[in-house]
Amino acid sequence: MSELRNKINEAVNFIRTKTSMKPTIGIILGTGLGGLVKEIEIETIIDYEDIPHFPISTVESHHGKLIFGRIGGKEVVAMQGRFHYYEGYSMQQITFPVRVMSYKVGLGVETLFISNAGGGLNPEFEKGDLMIMTDHINLLGDNPLIGPNDNELGPRFPDMSEPYSKELIALAEKIAEEENIKIQKGVYAALTGPNLETRAEYRFLRIIGADAVGMSTVPENIVANHMGMKCFGMTIITDLCDPDNLQPLTVEEVIEVASKSEPKMTLLMKKLIERI
Ligand code: HPA
Repeated sequence: MSELRNKINEAVNFIRTKTSMKPTIGIILGTGLGGLVKEIEIETIIDYEDIPHFPISTVESHHGKLIFGRIGGKEVVAMQGRFHYYEGYSMQQITFPVRVMSYKVGLGVETLFISNAGGGLNPEFEKGDLMIMTDHINLLGDNPLIGPNDNELGPRFPDMSEPYSKELIALAEKIAEEENIKIQKGVYAALTGPNLETRAEYRFLRIIGADAVGMSTVPENIVANHMGMKCFGMTIITDLCDPDNLQPLTVEEVIEVASKSEPKMTLLMKKLIERI
């Protein structure tokens, strides 16, 4: 058995001593989804630091808890606190929880929901818009699948023709229409950060086909695809990255815009989870 699988097994075995739930839905509570926790009928909370091999969050605003419960009667497991490459974690560390959650060798998750904040590159976008991720461009310069491949987890060369489930995208659009929530769709480019991008970089990102830019989600999505999980991702457009009219940006502004859009994102995700 691979070293990675031994680690997954140890983490899963520990979690099994705390809960017998077998959620088919996993949620990574990134920026803008913190409020979804209030919608979970919580059954068990496990601190990341207690789970063997789990990375520990360094960002203070994140809590580092694995939450088990129900949304609309559906069993879910939610990661409160996620990991970024710029914090110094390896890609394998960032994506370890996704492997632990998976149905293949882990807790039972077949569908993974992810949220994030990003800068808007598409000139049609407005601050505070929600963007459904239809695709991504990995500009992180690294990949969580580099290294020996465990064929039991997934193929050496995973297909990426549908990294974000078309079925879930269509359902989310339908729900957004019903709920009168303005929605954008687009391609998310992931860069390492932690600095924001230069004007020249924003120009480049637009030319190569990105609609939004951020620093997360892509590693988790790659691993979810590797393991045959469906994925749905959504970005809150917290600022506009117009190279010809670029304004300085602070993290406080990002958080302020994200928190204003949070109720829309929470509602949409909740309805989506209820209807799959
Ligand atoms: N780049 C630009 N703007 C942003 C980002 C980013 O990574 N994240 C949130 N707003």
